[in-house]
Amino acid sequence: MCGIVGYVGSELAAPFLLESLKRLEYRGYDSAGIALIEDGKLVRFRRAGKVRDLEHDLHGAAYSATVGIGHTRWATHGVPTDRNAHPHLDCHGRIAVIHNGIIENHAVLRERLENDGHVFSSETDTEVLAHLVESLYDGDLLDAVRKAIGQAQGAFAVAILSQDAPDRIVFAKRGSPLVVGRSEGAAYVSSDVPALLGKASEVQFLLDDELGEITLDGYRILTLDGRPVHRAPHRVSADPVAIQKGGYKHFMLKEIHEQARSVGETLREKLDQGTRLLGMPALEQVDPDFDHIYFVACGTAHHAAKVAEYLWESVLPVPAHAIIASEFRLRNAHITPRTLVIAVSQSGETIDTLMAVRSARSRGAHVIALVNAEQSAIERESNAAVYTRAGIEIGVAATKTFTAQIAALGLIGLALSRVKGAASEAESSRELRELALLPGRIVEALRVEDKVRTLAERLRHASDVLFLARGALFPIALEGALKLKEISYIHAEGYPAGEMKHGPIALIDEGTPVIMLASRGPAYDKLLSNMEEVKARKGFVIAVSDAPEDPNLVRLADEILPVPTSSGISSPILFTIPLQLLAYYVAVSLGTDVDQPRNLAKTVTVE
Ligand code: AGP
Repeated sequence: MCGIVGYVGSELAAPFLLESLKRLEYRGYDSAGIALIEDGKLVRFRRAGKVRDLEHDLHGAAYSATVGIGHTRWATHGVPTDRNAHPHLDCHGRIAVIHNGIIENHAVLRERLENDGHVFSSETDTEVLAHLVESLYDGDLLDAVRKAIGQAQGAFAVAILSQDAPDRIVFAKRGSPLVVGRSEGAAYVSSDVPALLGKASEVQFLLDDELGEITLDGYRILTLDGRPVHRAPHRVSADPVAIQKGGYKHFMLKEIHEQARSVGETLREKLDQGTRLLGMPALEQVDPDFDHIYFVACGTAHHAAKVAEYLWESVLPVPAHAIIASEFRLRNAHITPRTLVIAVSQSGETIDTLMAVRSARSRGAHVIALVNAEQSAIERESNAAVYTRAGIEIGVAATKTFTAQIAALGLIGLALSRVKGAASEAESSRELRELALLPGRIVEALRVEDKVRTLAERLRHASDVLFLARGALFPIALEGALKLKEISYIHAEGYPAGEMKHGPIALIDEGTPVIMLASRGPAYDKLLSNMEEVKARKGFVIAVSDAPEDPNLVRLADEILPVPTSSGISSPILFTIPLQLLAYYVAVSLGTDVDQPRNLAKTVTVE
């Protein structure tokens, strides 16, 4: 939701903080600010807008500070204004706080602090922390922060800078991600690793109710009751170039084009020489008598889970249901110790999914996390984890993590069918042979890019777009609609094609774009009938199909986007590629902020 970063070292703090905040803007970007210790005094700069706007304000100012904190915001409490931008200060401007999360008891704390004479200047929950630390400060900043978070309820990752402790930054974590790092002669704190790439040589992921401080000597971590924490750090190997755009106009386009690699990496780790399915350690504790599967996930991850819902039905003799994570706790899903729950989340930090995991665990289910980030909260609170290997995804709209999720879920389904003794070797080996060809087919699917770029101009003025499909491609229709609406802001709906005549057909007017996923197979002829229905109402049919030369398709479709022929797990992945490109180029033609669409954040850590 927000990005926070802190630096203690021997280099200038301001340039590092601004560059790091740009790498964290995918987490939220409606306002930004930094605070520095300049010549022994705490100074603060903040404003509504992007980090580049803040950088423009600071341009040319030569601050010699080598200690500072920075924040990029996704508003939860208080509209995006200069006044609500972090860092927030105490009454005397000697303590600065930056925060990611929500202080749920902020109103009670604020009332108490105001009654004690504290004067607030913003509408934010975060400012309460600045005044609370001030009220508890008696010369030991770390102890004051420890006491303050003992009184705070909710989720937070905080970094605190004080003029009276100019050589250190205090941090604390509960519910929102936070990582500390060190290199020779410097130490760092950040919401996420990308901000530290190329700087920290090692990082340490904090657990809930851990706090500590960074100084020139590095970092120290304590539990809330003051016990030192010693865990082996993680070496930071990712190349900083990996998080640059690599010549692409946007991270999203770069990440769409990385999918042959990211899917390949995700598969390779779980296959031996690309053909034999390796045992997955995460599945070793699964009770072979499991009798029901629930997937819990949000947004695009939910669409991957729905694809798995279809795929697993054909390899497993037990029911599998994909439930939107925020709905899972409201349902009386029949959970027993023989229930298997798969939590799908690229960030591993989505609070709705984390809460569903906690609910499932509390009711005795066995939970397996499928995540793209190691050491995430969802992984830590699950029984075990399987990883996608998509690499860091900066674009707020999920692309490569989605196709990697489908690939991984496909393999997990095959592995579970073995646990159940249900998969025939012949079926498995046919699927694995298909998957070995998948990276190359993804490259082939991307060749539709030029045609999509031209076609995008046709959609830019649309007010409604329908995405229709049947079977395991129906979740891909949902994902195509989500991609289009979240980055182009055009209203779009995904529907089962068979459902169109039960209502959505009323949306079709002359020229309404209808994207139809027509895959060879049992539903193909019905899809063609649906196209007839759309054409009869003068809709504009864009067919995405692995039968692009079929004469019936050529007769019915106004445009055809070809997809390589495939089956099983590969098919939904390949049908996704043209839809990602279509959403991207429509958004580019409209000039929206593709990598940081309005109102969105890459990781939603508030319920
Ligand atoms: C997808 O493009 C969105 N960015 C969003 O729906 C996302 O998929 C959802 O918030 C889940 O995120 P997660 O995978 O990190 O849990």
